[in-house]
Amino acid sequence: MATIDTPGRGTWNSKLGFILAAAGSAVGLGNIWGFPTQVADNGGAAFILVYLVCCILVGLPVMIAEITIGRKTGKNPVGAFKALDSSGFGAIIGYWGVICGMMILAFYLVISGWTIAYVFEEILKYTGNMTGAAWFGDLANGPKNAIFTIIFMLFTVGIINGGVSNGIERATKILMPFLLFILIVMIGYVFTLEGSADGVREYLMPDFSLIDIDLTLSAMGQAFFSLSLGMGALITYGSYLKKNQNIMESAAYVTVFDIFIAFIAGMLVIPAMYVALSQGIAIFGEDGDLISSVSLVFTVLPQLFENMGGFLGLFVSVSFFLLLGLAALTSSISLLEVPVSYVIDEHKIPRKKASLIVGGIVLFFALIISFDIGLIDVFVNIFNEIGLPLGGMMTCIFLGWVWKSSNALLEIDNGFPGASESNFGKVWAFFIQYICPVLIGIVFVTTVLNIIR
Ligand code: PFF
Repeated sequence: MATIDTPGRGTWNSKLGFILAAAGSAVGLGNIWGFPTQVADNGGAAFILVYLVCCILVGLPVMIAEITIGRKTGKNPVGAFKALDSSGFGAIIGYWGVICGMMILAFYLVISGWTIAYVFEEILKYTGNMTGAAWFGDLANGPKNAIFTIIFMLFTVGIINGGVSNGIERATKILMPFLLFILIVMIGYVFTLEGSADGVREYLMPDFSLIDIDLTLSAMGQAFFSLSLGMGALITYGSYLKKNQNIMESAAYVTVFDIFIAFIAGMLVIPAMYVALSQGIAIFGEDGDLISSVSLVFTVLPQLFENMGGFLGLFVSVSFFLLLGLAALTSSISLLEVPVSYVIDEHKIPRKKASLIVGGIVLFFALIISFDIGLIDVFVNIFNEIGLPLGGMMTCIFLGWVWKSSNALLEIDNGFPGASESNFGKVWAFFIQYICPVLIGIVFVTTVLNIIR
């Protein structure tokens, strides 16, 4: 099959542009909130080790697969699978990716909206307006959630309207260094506080006896979500990639960067919890485990910021929620770009109109969730915990057995001459054909059984 060139689709301007955009997609709420939460839930460093293994054995090969499919075809996920398989079977994987992208974005927007609302909450608390602060801080307040969900969607659509290099690439080039800067300054500060050393110890001392099937399932799910895999985000980003870029090298950079940010976000959040403990704030739930999930980010940490007091407390808290919001924004644009690129390519609708149509549909679901945040768990179960491994597994099976890894390797040879003959190429092909589908398959079946049981 010849490479399909769709004129005017756009490309990344530079090698770094693609890496930063893909890293921006990967680094999000999943790293700064999800990862530390999972570590807290699953007994510390043991989780980190299993997570690393999942990222390297499964995440990286699947990421290379997605980028290769995207660059070969120069299309959105639906168009890409259609182009590589005339039977039509493949397109189902693309459609599933588009649906998962939209539904994940729907709940992602609501949580992202909380990060902006909390900036106001912290400012009002600082000025002594407790009633106003309580309004902004009430996670179950439907109208407030709806307002901030809409605001976050407007930012996301605004960037997507700018297109690939002027919108996504430019935004991530500015936002990513800023994000890294805030994260490092905050870690530096938390490390000066009493109690942080206990947190670092807890974070880095593995208890291997805690490794079991549940921990492994959580680690694999976290790897898929954090690396933005299984729904065609990287097929889409890969479709804007120039032929002379080395896919394997770029995927490795993105994976390492994502793991690094998750790791250092844990270095911020877990020690911060122990600083809170040393100040008398409860950080363990009734079950004796570290408080995690929503309460960790929106209850324990704000209490710590409050204890710091004064302008410093305000500065640190606003920086933290800004950090979370920026990370979420560079991910939400990639979630929206998947269905938007589908509408542009397959329905020949111009970008601005496409992003308004898709944005409107996603917003409809997001607003429903705004008024009933219990739905977040339902969406996470279906589209994240089941949807992403399912998409990833089908992508591996498709690439390895339908399109064939030998063809994919020929595409990888562009930008990495000799890849198909190298050991890298051979090991990758073996992983995509055998190891990844089997490992993801086990995780997928067990996750489904756990959810329906
Ligand atoms: N990787 C993002 C995070 O860690 O928050 C979430 C995400 C973005 C998942 C894009 C999937 C995706 F396609």
